[in-house]
Amino acid sequence: MAWPAHGPRERGRNLARGARPWWESFFGPDYLKQYEVDLERTAAEVDGMEQILHLRRGARVLDLACGGGRHAIELARRGYAVTGFDLSEDLLRRAREGAKRAKVKVSFVHGDMRELRFRAAFDAVINMFSSFGYFESEPDDRQVLKGVVRALKPRGKFLMERFNRESLAYELPLQGWRVGEDGSVVLQEDTFDVLRGRYDTRQIVIDREGTREHRGSVRAYTLPELKGMFDVVGLPIHRVLGGLDLSPYRARSRRLVLFAVKGLEPESIRTVW
Ligand SMILES: C[S@@+](CC[C@H](N)C(=O)[O-])C[C@H]1O[C@@H](n2cnc3c(N)ncnc32)[C@H](O)[C@@H]1O
Repeated sequence: MAWPAHGPRERGRNLARGARPWWESFFGPDYLKQYEVDLERTAAEVDGMEQILHLRRGARVLDLACGGGRHAIELARRGYAVTGFDLSEDLLRRAREGAKRAKVKVSFVHGDMRELRFRAAFDAVINMFSSFGYFESEPDDRQVLKGVVRALKPRGKFLMERFNRESLAYELPLQGWRVGEDGSVVLQEDTFDVLRGRYDTRQIVIDREGTREHRGSVRAYTLPELKGMFDVVGLPIHRVLGGLDLSPYRARSRRLVLFAVKGLEPESIRTVW
């Protein structure tokens, strides 16, 4: 199936009309249909996270862009004091319901990741599942990292997990479809815009309520670009891995995991566990 190409003209018109930025509408009720992640996978991701972060039980963790709270809830279940932060009221509602069901206490906070107000409050901040690079301007993305540094205690730890640009750029374009547990169908087209250096996704959700379209666009930072941004704000990178399964980082790795420590220069950056 081929969708008509959507080029810069169409995007330009949208902005001129003052359309809401994509990330304000993309992460609504349909998002959890588009990305169904099972509990087992989340638990395995948190296993990897625990090994990398090496925190004491009770440590304070901020899940930045926590979405439906899957990592926040699992971390709380394992004894950490977790705050989940997100812009989507829909996903935060789901997260609060999930925490209640799991009988764990998580503080869920609504806000924009560019405007973090926390000061030296956390032992660790996590940013999972490609939740960085959403804004049109790079300074806005940098603003997020500055907020992370402020939110961390001295020597606080930062873990970012995202797609790996090198393999993604090679794999795309891709089109696919899947049927959800509730019978909904999601059609998806992912492309890599080499001129803008962004991963673009277009998704059509079809269910009993009708047909809806969602578009997203994430800046596909290279590893050196990310390292440069982390260095500037005072988050030296200690480890680069190919996933929370602790696999070594390679250009062909599907995922990229960055582990940084506030204000602490490493002797060298390790790309294997
Ligand atoms: C790809 S989802 C990841 C959710 C979650 N971390 C996970 O692993 O399932 C990205 C999340 O970023 C949130 N988000 C998008 N723009 C945001 C913003 N400006 N400020 C805070 N959160 C934002 C979305 O609402 C969404 O929950």
